[in-house]
Amino acid sequence: MTSTPTRSQADDEFEGKIAFITGGGRGQGRCHALALAAAGADIAICDIEEQDPEMPVPTGAPGDLDTTRRQVEALGRRCLSAVADVRDRVALNGFVDSIMREFGRIDIAVANAGIYSAAPIHQMPDHQFDAVLQTNLTGVYNTIRAVAPIMVEQRSGRIIATASGAGRLGLPNLAHYNASKWGVIGLVKGSAIDLGRYNISVNAVCPATIDTPIVRNEFTRRLYNPELENPTDADVDRKILSGGKVPMPVAMLQPEEITNAVLFLASDRAKYISGSTIDVGGGYAASHT
Ligand SMILES: NC(=O)c1ccc[n+]([C@@H]2O[C@H](COP(=O)([O-])OP(=O)(O)OC[C@H]3O[C@@H](n4cnc5c(N)ncnc54)[C@H](O)[C@@H]3O)[C@@H](O)[C@H]2O)c1
Repeated sequence: MTSTPTRSQADDEFEGKIAFITGGGRGQGRCHALALAAAGADIAICDIEEQDPEMPVPTGAPGDLDTTRRQVEALGRRCLSAVADVRDRVALNGFVDSIMREFGRIDIAVANAGIYSAAPIHQMPDHQFDAVLQTNLTGVYNTIRAVAPIMVEQRSGRIIATASGAGRLGLPNLAHYNASKWGVIGLVKGSAIDLGRYNISVNAVCPATIDTPIVRNEFTRRLYNPELENPTDADVDRKILSGGKVPMPVAMLQPEEITNAVLFLASDRAKYISGSTIDVGGGYAASHT
């Protein structure tokens, strides 16, 4: 009689590894956490779990981290979680200290937390510009800065930052978001040079539009469909499909598609890939260099 395996061989790829993911409460961050856990890693996640009243797109809410943590634990892996704002260096460094106390190392760091809003540059609320830059760019810096000394000491590590298709070109109403995500790519390239000698790779993933709460909300439905009184998610998808920017027949990709790229970059198969960006967006990248 053969027993049913609970895990395949590939599922043990990250056995013994410790992965830290910012913005792990929901969306892509949760998806990365669960996939890494399913492949053997123990997980540390942080999230802000709090809404900035001056930002129009809802961020995560209390309970999100707990949900991810329970799902990780259901896969038989350990999960350390904390409410921490990636803009807050003291909080982030404090959480990294906790990870080290709990797990003793950090092998993989995914700087994923991010926010967006939308306004033309001549009407951009300064607060929104500052919040987007501080979260999406400085937050990635803070994450790299917190984990890099540990990885240098270990003489190994994988850092993966979430940039965006919006980090490769300009988009209407998104100059602040464009600036933050172009900045992430620059940060990744410079960091890859500084950290390469310590056997640490630093790369970026550039998602196009992904089916997560950052875009599945009322603000985004109205942004894409200002002419409609009650726009739906399907109206957003129709706009994307008719916009001509994504050659493959897909409006929004599922977060698992980005997770596949993150796991590849974290894996041995990518050990000499560093300073690179991987675009995942149904061919969105084909129209820019
Ligand atoms: N969904 C898309 O279409 C898309 C496309 C390109 C890039 N991205 C990027 O992907 C990343 C993940 O986004 P997502 O699609 O999972 O959206 P999401 O909103 O579902 O997840 C983002 C998570 O980050 C958290 N977060 C926000 N600000 C934070 C802060 N200051 N400190 C800690 N956590 C914070 C949120 O609470 C949320 O849980 C972001 O960097 C985003 O900019 C998303």
